[in-house]
Amino acid sequence: MKKITIIGTGYVGLVTGAGISEFGHDVTCVDINKDKIKKLNLGKIPIYEPELETLVKRNKSKDRLKFSSDIIKAIKTAEIIFIAVGTPQGENNDSDLTAVENVAKLIGENLNKYKIICTKSTVPVGTGKKIENIIKLASSSILFDYVSNPEFLREGAAVKDFLIPDRIVIGSRSKKAFEIMQEVYRPLYLNETPIVSTSIETAEMIKYASNAFLALKISYINEIANLCDLVGADVNVVSKAMGQDGRISSKFLHPGPGFGGSCFPKDTIALANAGKQNNFRMNTVEAAIKTNNEQKLRMVSKLKLLLNNNLKNKTITVLGLAFKPETNDIRDAAAAIIIPKLIESGAIINTYDPVAMENFKLLKLNINYFNNWQDASRDADALILLTEWNEFRGIDLLELKLLLKTPIVLDTKNILSIKKLKSLEFNYDNVGRKTVN
Ligand code: UGA
Repeated sequence: MKKITIIGTGYVGLVTGAGISEFGHDVTCVDINKDKIKKLNLGKIPIYEPELETLVKRNKSKDRLKFSSDIIKAIKTAEIIFIAVGTPQGENNDSDLTAVENVAKLIGENLNKYKIICTKSTVPVGTGKKIENIIKLASSSILFDYVSNPEFLREGAAVKDFLIPDRIVIGSRSKKAFEIMQEVYRPLYLNETPIVSTSIETAEMIKYASNAFLALKISYINEIANLCDLVGADVNVVSKAMGQDGRISSKFLHPGPGFGGSCFPKDTIALANAGKQNNFRMNTVEAAIKTNNEQKLRMVSKLKLLLNNNLKNKTITVLGLAFKPETNDIRDAAAAIIIPKLIESGAIINTYDPVAMENFKLLKLNINYFNNWQDASRDADALILLTEWNEFRGIDLLELKLLLKTPIVLDTKNILSIKKLKSLEFNYDNVGRKTVN
């Protein structure tokens, strides 16, 4: 059993803390946001993430998981400290490392015995060295080892991804640190989860290379889908058959309104930027970003086309505000880009999302929120679906037709039955399946 402190209780920090306590370690999660800690101590989870509440409750009740705002004490008592604070996009497209650097300084100032300092936050290649130097400068001569241990969890499936990962990446210069980290992940190691032992820089690069590759895959299938629209092919069949080739795999080949979230948009920009800083163009990554930006605008054009290029005073129902299902996160969500464009063109927006409406309201857009898809659709001139929530998959299209003023639907997630839309004489469009029978 290791004594572990996690600094930062955002998505990564909270899931990591809960997950590692589930492995049997003694974990303290700390944050400068006292209100958040207070709520966590009352059992209130600040994010919508399936299974997280159960995991937190279970480990809290067994006293393996604690929440505290006493960061200094948590630093001093820990054998291993995980840095899991945010690295938002800063100026010049670089990651803003202020929070990480502040934490590193605080750790250095309070280093009282040998510890492992491990970064979970996504940080540009080379940051590990910087963090090490900050800690060294701020501390006396007490030894520590630095580890890069990037996280690959997906929002909405974060608990499962943490407890059953495809691989664990541990970047370190020290054999001792690697062995201690192996102990942290002992239950996974026993389950034969691959553990990649590598250098700090390589570990940092693995994270960016993985995220950017997935983003590239999405932009690629979106381009194929757009071409399918133009030549009369069915992107669903194309991506299924592509995926049957083991070298390609069927994952992340679902077309849509473009990727969003807190990771892909930011990480692809940061990777392309890292290339530029090294006088090297990351052509594929830059293209994936461009395609993604255009894809969101393409959805606006598609909707306009369905409405004879006139959105003025048209009521548009937008279903789905979250950047993907099973999360209330709206960061870089398609809705956050598309809705303002529709408003600019004179549209009135009625919307519904099962969990993301409260977050969306913070954007202070002048739109109407409803408690279900039926109320949001009543008397609207058209509907655009942006997030593939399960409850939208089950929409009764006859009921929808009766609710809408005009039966016009743009399904950007390709989840509605084309056969039914056709038989009910909807005027519809989707992404790459326009001419499917
Ligand atoms: C992503 C990665 O999948 C995780 O492995 C990684 O750990 C995480 O970023 C991170 O860096 O923290 P996440 O952003 O939670 O996870 O969500 P994804 O499931 O990857 O989806 C990202 C976006 O791509 C969403 O907007 C989603 O709708 C879109 N997407 C995904 C597609 O348009 N098509 C697909 O086939 C898959």
